[in-house]
Amino acid sequence: MFETLLTEKKENYLVVTLNRPDKLNALNTQLFNELDEVIKSVELDDSIGAMILTGSGDKAFAAGADIGELNKSDQRSGKLFSEHGSKVMARLEQLRIPVIAAVNGFALGGGCELTMSCHIRFASENAKFGQPEVNLGIIPGYGGTQRLAGLVGISKAIELIISGNMINATEAARIGLVNAVFSKDELLTKTEEFVRLVLSKGRLAVNSAIEVIMASRYLSPAEGLAFESIKFGDLCATADFKEGTSAFLEKRKAEFINK
Ligand code: COA
Repeated sequence: MFETLLTEKKENYLVVTLNRPDKLNALNTQLFNELDEVIKSVELDDSIGAMILTGSGDKAFAAGADIGELNKSDQRSGKLFSEHGSKVMARLEQLRIPVIAAVNGFALGGGCELTMSCHIRFASENAKFGQPEVNLGIIPGYGGTQRLAGLVGISKAIELIISGNMINATEAARIGLVNAVFSKDELLTKTEEFVRLVLSKGRLAVNSAIEVIMASRYLSPAEGLAFESIKFGDLCATADFKEGTSAFLEKRKAEFINK
């Protein structure tokens, strides 16, 4: 169906694989358009409770924006180039279902930014992260200057972005860029195990948690607390809340129906 992506629906989650292995899954316009289509269809499909994003081949998650395309940019088209990718990544981040990057190799430039637009990053031992844009005379353009600082702190983000240095998975985990590191063979199985664990919980609660946590990006602390209370109240009106609390009191396993 897509040329630059593979999608596989498994039980109640979707695995999306960036699929330009000859170009180390570099992100071109077509890939962004196709990813945008996938995200929009996920937004409309209640049967999908989580999404995993990974790269094809054993070398790369994504080695950045497609430099062949980028090379043609001038001031105005460069701004559009940045805005286009940035919007797709923002849409991905704003999904209410958990989105998990299974980072199976290089995650550089736009590739690193794409992992940061996911809610969680798991990496294989051979993964490498970096924002090498300064080597090309530019800065990260898909939200990297903002999200990296949020994840690892301003000083570390400045160090990584102005040096263009690559870091390995262990270092990425140490600084908080990556949630966990697994062997290459185990990366996808462990990621799917985590997804199945999350999907065994009340899905409305999982989705609300993500929505409220991500809203902290745009709300003041007081507005964030108020939004949390509203969502908490909404959840107290669900069948899953009645089931979850009753199951606890009756010492049995909850059977959630996502309503
Ligand atoms: N855009 C377009 N093509 C890319 C690419 C990118 N970001 N990254 C890799 N490729 C292509 C290479 O041009 C090469 O294509 P070719 O075989 O047609 O020449 C192919 O992918 C394999 O890459 P190669 O450089 O030969 O692999 P390597 O193992 O020697 O090096 C990297 C791997 C990741 C270190 C190197 O590819 C690299 O530095 N890529 C660019 C990273 C970058 O600056 N990203 C930020 C972009 S804003």
